[in-house]
Amino acid sequence: MVELLAARGLDSSDEWIVERTGIRNRHFVADGMQASDLAFQACRAALAAAGLKVSDIDLIVLATSTPDMVFPSTATILQHKLTQAALAEGDASGAGGAAFDVQAVCSGFIYALTVADSLIKTGTATKALVVGAEVFSRILDFNDRTTCVLFGDGAGAVVLEACEHDGSGAGILASDIHADGKHTGILCVPGTVCGGAVLGDPLLKMDGQAVFKLAVGVLEDAARAVLAKAGKTEADVDWLVPHQANIRIMQSTARKLKLPMDKVVVTVDQHGNTSAASIPLALDHAVRGGLVKPGQTVLMEGVGGGFTWGAVLVKM
Ligand code: UT7
Repeated sequence: MVELLAARGLDSSDEWIVERTGIRNRHFVADGMQASDLAFQACRAALAAAGLKVSDIDLIVLATSTPDMVFPSTATILQHKLTQAALAEGDASGAGGAAFDVQAVCSGFIYALTVADSLIKTGTATKALVVGAEVFSRILDFNDRTTCVLFGDGAGAVVLEACEHDGSGAGILASDIHADGKHTGILCVPGTVCGGAVLGDPLLKMDGQAVFKLAVGVLEDAARAVLAKAGKTEADVDWLVPHQANIRIMQSTARKLKLPMDKVVVTVDQHGNTSAASIPLALDHAVRGGLVKPGQTVLMEGVGGGFTWGAVLVKM
């Protein structure tokens, strides 16, 4: 990346990026790959981990700001890809029920979890795939060193399932989601499709310092609000899985909540900021790595363009 910037006459260094953000690596998709392709891989892994088939799923909620198309939703494209793969492997049927996208930028996964949880609790769905998938490499301005070094591509997914109370108390304990549209200008892609052409600028713009200041404030508020809703305190949190934008934002949140950093799942060094994919990627890393265990309480929280922010408290 630093070489790419230098070739464009822009000055940066690995030292600056690591010190200011904590990012060491990130991943970009190959040409022709879309958010639904990343989501497909993540969903297959989530279904395998849950011991479920595609035909068990009756809801897909996909969080993305980098959809395959203007419409239909990436969730419906994903549903078709999952169904085709299932049929090819001999399953009698594919995924059914509703499939739709949620657009809340880096808070997308928190919003998607909240929506899927609500649909399950009202009996509308029984087994949901909740996915965050992004190809932010497609909307980066490689002439802007203040943003192009930060973001990466990725996807992560979980399965949410309705279950009778088994006494374990496992499940989503509480959610807290918010938006304030007056901050649109500090993090946006101010372009659209109109009359067969792109109108405006289709590349990401961010006022990093303004976003940073807002983020540290609302992440503390969301954490406290979701804990209060669940009747819990910071002392009940086994793991904080925050949106992976900047290690300094995560450290600040942990300090404010009096959580030691060894209770914070950090993957920003490996993936950079993958927007709606960052929380499920970090959760996957923590679960598969044996950090997060059944029975533990996990606080997930995100913040992003809109401005949007929120938190979900889960007992695993
Ligand atoms: O996911 C959605 C939420 N997004 C976020 O949470 C991002 C929040 N913001 C941030 O993470 C940080 O504000 C950044 C990482 C974007 C920037 O860090 P910062 O400590 O706020 O740096 P800054 O904007 O104050 O810039 C400091 C200096 C500036 O130079 P001068 O004006 O002091 O001479 C920048 O021009 O660093 C310069 N700079 C760079 N230098 C080398 C900005 N980008 C780069 C770069 N390489 N890539």
